[in-house]
Amino acid sequence: VTVRAPSNIAFVKYWGARDLQQALPRNASISMTLSECYTRSTATLVPEPGPDEILLATEGGDLRPAPEAFAVPVHRHLERLRRHAGRVEALRIATRNNFPSDCGLASSASGFAALTLAAMRALGLDPSPAELSLWSRRSGSGSAARSAHGGYVELPAGSAEPETYAHPLAAADHWELCDLIAIVQLDPKGVSSRDGHLRAPTSPYFERRLELLPARLGAVRRAIADRNLGALGPVLEAEAIDLHLITMSSEPPIFYWRPGTLEVLDAVRNLRTEGSPAFATMDAGANVHVICEPREEEAVAERLAGLAVVQRVIRDRTGAGPRVEEVSLS
Ligand code: PMV
Repeated sequence: VTVRAPSNIAFVKYWGARDLQQALPRNASISMTLSECYTRSTATLVPEPGPDEILLATEGGDLRPAPEAFAVPVHRHLERLRRHAGRVEALRIATRNNFPSDCGLASSASGFAALTLAAMRALGLDPSPAELSLWSRRSGSGSAARSAHGGYVELPAGSAEPETYAHPLAAADHWELCDLIAIVQLDPKGVSSRDGHLRAPTSPYFERRLELLPARLGAVRRAIADRNLGALGPVLEAEAIDLHLITMSSEPPIFYWRPGTLEVLDAVRNLRTEGSPAFATMDAGANVHVICEPREEEAVAERLAGLAVVQRVIRDRTGAGPRVEEVSLS
């Protein structure tokens, strides 16, 4: 079974967990699902019990055994899915991202959503989007829970574990926004988001942000319902700054930003002064996601591409949820 699952960009970030292994978040998060950055994952049932095989596509396209940092959580996740399905057969998983991985472009979101749905279907299950979100979250990636749906999606903080899954706030066609991703760093980021979540509560600003979140979440839900970028933009920028404020003041500190990050942030502010509404956000990495309406896309993309620090601009948009495909990766 082959599945294509989208990445997403968080407007309100998931940062800090009650239970990291199962990605039970300390706070609710809201994201926009993307159409162009995605992961394709093929799950094949091997007729006998045995070790699962986890393959990851390299930049050149060959499938190679996945590095331990990816393979270990995937093995654990497949074991849990197999028990849930009441099956014993091993699985062969092949996964490919169509965008640079591990540099703050949420490859864990699309990666775990894709392989969760592919494995569940291969094991004979047919999860609803809510069930897919629940099981994607149980992989250990909170952002993957949001990639189970298209459009605008909220993952609540949740109280009971089995009820902590994402739900859609609005479909992709409710409001089309652009996400122009300015790539200023292609090397894998130094510190994983897993370590970032672990260290987050050591920042003196961690609890303060949690106090500010109910108002931010309300404002983002309202701005999405009203298709109001002027109301959404300042909140999504405040959220990005606070995420990085917390990483930089955690013990030990984490600096995801590169000099290019600041240059892009400057360019976005200048665009606004000149009358082009565009707003910037970053996940756990140096690259900057610039959010704007389609009518501003050309002007914003051109400005970003003209900066010497920008290696590439990926043009993305609001997109649909995961889907099963006929092609196979293996
Ligand atoms: O899903 P994880 O564990 O990779 O954490 C995601 C963390 C951020 O991307 C920084 C924020 C988010 O909500 O997507």
